[in-house]
Amino acid sequence: MSETWWRGAAIYQVYLRSFADGNGDGIGDLAGLRARLPYLSDLGVGAIWLNPWYPSPMADGGYDVADYRDIEPSFGTLAEAEEFIAEAHALGIKTITDIVPNHGSDQQKWFLQALEAGPGSAERERFHFREGRGESGELPPNDWKSIFGGPAWTRIADGEWYLHLFAPEQPDFNWDNPEVVEEFHDVLRFWFDRGVDGIRIDSAALLVKDMDSLGGEEAYTDLDGVHEIYRGWRRVAEEYADRILIGEVWLPDQERFAQYLRPDEMHTAFNFDFLACTWEAAALRCSIDLTLATHIPLGAPPTWVLSNHDVTRPVTKYGRADTSFSHADRKHGMPSDPVLGERRARAAALLAMALPGGLYVYQGEELGLPEVEDIADELRQDPIWIRSGRTDHGRDGCRVPLPWSGDEPPFGFGAGPTWLPQPLEWKALTAEAQAANPTSMFTLYRTGLHLRRELLGDGTLTWLSGAQDEVLAFRRESGLVCVVNLGQEPVSLPEHESVLLASGPLEGNLLPSDTAVWLRTA
Ligand code: GLC
Ligand code: CA
Repeated sequence: MSETWWRGAAIYQVYLRSFADGNGDGIGDLAGLRARLPYLSDLGVGAIWLNPWYPSPMADGGYDVADYRDIEPSFGTLAEAEEFIAEAHALGIKTITDIVPNHGSDQQKWFLQALEAGPGSAERERFHFREGRGESGELPPNDWKSIFGGPAWTRIADGEWYLHLFAPEQPDFNWDNPEVVEEFHDVLRFWFDRGVDGIRIDSAALLVKDMDSLGGEEAYTDLDGVHEIYRGWRRVAEEYADRILIGEVWLPDQERFAQYLRPDEMHTAFNFDFLACTWEAAALRCSIDLTLATHIPLGAPPTWVLSNHDVTRPVTKYGRADTSFSHADRKHGMPSDPVLGERRARAAALLAMALPGGLYVYQGEELGLPEVEDIADELRQDPIWIRSGRTDHGRDGCRVPLPWSGDEPPFGFGAGPTWLPQPLEWKALTAEAQAANPTSMFTLYRTGLHLRRELLGDGTLTWLSGAQDEVLAFRRESGLVCVVNLGQEPVSLPEHESVLLASGPLEGNLLPSDTAVWLRTA
């Protein structure tokens, strides 16, 4: 197995606003995170990725960045961020920050300067400003739609329009402008100089636009020019030792996806094909094989992702009659069987942990938190809610502050009411309640992550022959065999020396439905 830390790491995703609150204002922060570092160390994670922690008006939960070289005041200070990095390192935990290159914030200095400087100025060239169509420019320059709903253009007082693929508060940068390229190289160095070990690249495939295209995703998704940008970023990363680039690249075409992982581009990228896959043996096997076939020839480690801050929580997703996920259809309100959902989410966790490569765990996944589907409409914060004309509930349901301890909200999150309300039922799901319980989701994750460090991680797998159609069974180099039963009936276990871990009770030598097991074999 490779010694390079990131190839097989379990990377824990911290959505800072909802992780832990250190000062009692109901919003998670760096003080809260630092106080919980022992929890993450005990859980067995190798690295922490934090969603954007920069000053932000929070029009999109921090993905509207007003200053790439500072920390959001409600989260803490730059000095605290540096202390966090040092403390994580002292525990052997790497740190990854999130850079948003496609767009900034309408409160960011460059954008304010562009508004001020007026049409035709060099300041406007850092963004996509255009005149409108129609007699008096009253129509947007083209018909592109925002990914969050509504038009992708907003008109300003002097009559020009600017492009925003997401919310109007998130103006897109013009990546044809060398100043933009230079600026982001400098931002990367700023954070690498402060010791971060990796950069998660937001919306990585969207940076280059074809303004002559009529619109639709092909006008801005995965245009060839984007690769030159990441070659530049890779050169910056190589100025430092052991720093990595991780891409958020949502592309249905695996060959196009693989191009981002060429040796002079990113080191790894999130595996959204696996995340979106249904709970079916054939579909999962197909996704795993496709992933391996895409990564292994490039020498890039695959990654395995079950959830993040943009998608439906696994226990809710897997408890539905339709277990697929897509951004276009979140299936909000589709009934979910909590017992079935948890059972499958436990099995999925052991599957994901056993696969070769890196693993991502989104905060609260280890507690088996469900999607919160009954947030009152007036409390919803995700811009998708308003921009979809209140038809898509968006992503708030997976961003509710974590329950740490106690019997009632805020469940040890902090001292005051949380920025999104926590369900009362989370009393049973607090980290404190689960730590003491040998059969809890938390104990499963902690045990699995520690075993994974020893026996799994980077490498490859061999499918076991003879397994039934509804069963996934593979062996890893260490001799560990993972078996997952996705069928209705129990199946016999293959020959083994001992059972290392199971996602649910076994029936003698039988593996029940929707259960996974790790076996030690000779
Ligand atoms: C990415 C982020 C998401 C954000 C969007 C715009 O998809 O994961 O949370 O809203 O980019 O920055
Ligand atoms: Ca706080």
